[in-house]
Amino acid sequence: MASISEIKSKEFFDELSKTWDSTNKKSPQVVFDNITINPTDKVLDVACGTGVLEPYLCSLTKEKVIGIDISDGMIEKAKVNNAGLNVKYITGSFYDFSSAPFDKIIIYNAFPHFVLLDKFKEAIYRNLKADGKFIICHSLSRAELATHHAQLSSNISRDLNYVETEADYFKDKFVINTAKEDDKSFVIVGTKIIK
Ligand SMILES: C[S@@+](CC[C@H](N)C(=O)[O-])C[C@H]1O[C@@H](n2cnc3c(N)ncnc32)[C@H](O)[C@@H]1O
Repeated sequence: MASISEIKSKEFFDELSKTWDSTNKKSPQVVFDNITINPTDKVLDVACGTGVLEPYLCSLTKEKVIGIDISDGMIEKAKVNNAGLNVKYITGSFYDFSSAPFDKIIIYNAFPHFVLLDKFKEAIYRNLKADGKFIICHSLSRAELATHHAQLSSNISRDLNYVETEADYFKDKFVINTAKEDDKSFVIVGTKIIK
């Protein structure tokens, strides 16, 4: 059964999908500055929204890119925006997602919306190959994010802690390769530990 957080997120982002592309103009270069996508990589774009990353991802890997998002509205836009690209879009919550594992999992401009952190970490772990990498990143600073999300309920978003503190939470299941933030970005990169 969907949690309150998932139900509220879906409602909120279905509405936001109507205007997202006209307001979301930042370059996603921060993703590609911090993780390498190889031509044979299977890549999952978590909380893909209207598909801003797929033109870049599909130019880097020959494999089919998978995008998942809880909002039908976002996914409908993504399908139109990226018609013709080698990508499959799935509507659903990432918390429950299980697939053949990926080399890279990307969570771009979406981490604060995963308020059920244990389920989020488990889903990343479950869907990565041995040695696979995840990247959580933002093209905004933590302070800008907090301002941006100030009006949202705690079901939909939370304020982030210092990047090192957020990264610590993943250390039982991942080696942390990068944990850094500045006035323009917030980045965590981790590699799956096989137990
Ligand atoms: C701020 S938008 C960012 C979208 C996209 N990554 C971008 O940068 O344009 C956050 C996205 O997270 C999605 N989301 C929130 N909770 C989710 C969940 N449990 N599973 C999958 N997607 C979720 C929302 O539907 C929304 O599209």
